[in-house]
Amino acid sequence: MSKPISGFSKLSKSKKIEWIVNTYFSNNKIAKQILEQYWNTNENIQQLHDEFIENTITNYYLPFGVAPNFLINNKLYTIPMAIEESSVVAAASKSAKFWLDRGGFKTKVISTTKIGQVHFMFFGNSHHLISYFNHIKSRLLEDVKPITKNMELRGGGVIDIELRDKTEDIKGYYQLHVSFETLDAMGANFINSCLEQFAKTFKEEALNFKDFTTEEKNIQIVMSILSNYVPDCLVRAEVSCKIEDLNEDKDISPEEFVSKFVQAVNIAEVEPYRAVTHNKGIMNGIDAVVLATGNDFRAVEAGVHAYASRNGKYSSLTHAKIENGMFYFWMEIPLALGTVGGLTGLHPLVKLALELLHHPSAKDLMQIVAVAGLAQNFAALRSLTTTGIQKGHMKMHLMNILNQFGANEYEKATIIDYFKTHTVSHSAVVEILQNLRIKN
Ligand code: MEV
Repeated sequence: MSKPISGFSKLSKSKKIEWIVNTYFSNNKIAKQILEQYWNTNENIQQLHDEFIENTITNYYLPFGVAPNFLINNKLYTIPMAIEESSVVAAASKSAKFWLDRGGFKTKVISTTKIGQVHFMFFGNSHHLISYFNHIKSRLLEDVKPITKNMELRGGGVIDIELRDKTEDIKGYYQLHVSFETLDAMGANFINSCLEQFAKTFKEEALNFKDFTTEEKNIQIVMSILSNYVPDCLVRAEVSCKIEDLNEDKDISPEEFVSKFVQAVNIAEVEPYRAVTHNKGIMNGIDAVVLATGNDFRAVEAGVHAYASRNGKYSSLTHAKIENGMFYFWMEIPLALGTVGGLTGLHPLVKLALELLHHPSAKDLMQIVAVAGLAQNFAALRSLTTTGIQKGHMKMHLMNILNQFGANEYEKATIIDYFKTHTVSHSAVVEILQNLRIKN
């Protein structure tokens, strides 16, 4: 058992590594070598990474890939994706190509409002609280002016503040429920700074409110924080085409394909066990672009899954229908994204990703990300309802298995060639590799 360490964050990077490798690893030399292999040789880039978080001891790389041929509202995009899962970029590219010939993706931003809340306790007369709120509301807005000034100049800022009575849920619990427009910023810092100022003013000015009793003057602020649930920061992406144009799979007619596809979506709409996996596939596309563009994928994940449960039961994010000989497939999802602030101006790869996307506004990025999600779901359902998922997935996973067993270039080429006409499975790959090694 290792002993606790105090003052770890104050140690130099090399001292931190020394302590880690000597405390936890049987072979400290190899552990150190691995950590060092992932350092960037460019000192400036390494320093940037070191300073993103506390206690950086190395970098953790993910592949950064691209999926070309995405036609979105008649404009072509190559979409950057940071992800480790073998088949995701291939599936996105396949979907993009498929819809490129069928009119592409159509998207629309429905709304861009974000929410933050000051949660507080008040145990007095609620009418007194309401009159205090009405009295103080303009002062609350006045006191955040130093924070909101620049955002307001660009057309954003605080949209409204409401007092919400939550005392039916918890005795004495109220909120200042605040809506914001943060334009091209994801807005977490802006929103949280505003909320903390609201909380300060709200608590302090209560002491001077003459209609409060002495007890009522003691408003207890519990916390001030943005919400990652953003059902009013919503984007829609859709594709549609004539059923007869869904004719790329040789083994299945367009009619049979479309009918199975719509059934698959309907199943995800009513069956939570399926819906979670269905939506996970959508998030394969969404997270990869969110990550590549320096956005907060945990915030997006939390908000999207809450939205998928908004009617009281976890359900599919995508929907599909057949109408008058046409196939329609669409999704509306909440996405709070930024293209300024945060990592977007700091991380060289994020800057590159944004340039690749023609320097999108946050609204543009919402649409691109939604398309990546819809495309991913289309690819997954297309495979699932026709060949099954494993064929394509294992084909992409083949290289991982070969690398796991240290295959050399000759072995890789031979085995990849063999599996062009055979079904990939872990055991089949191992067997062939062993046979090859015996022969040579
Ligand atoms: C795998 O990462 C994602 C899928 O399971 C999604 C789905 O089942 O729709 C293939």
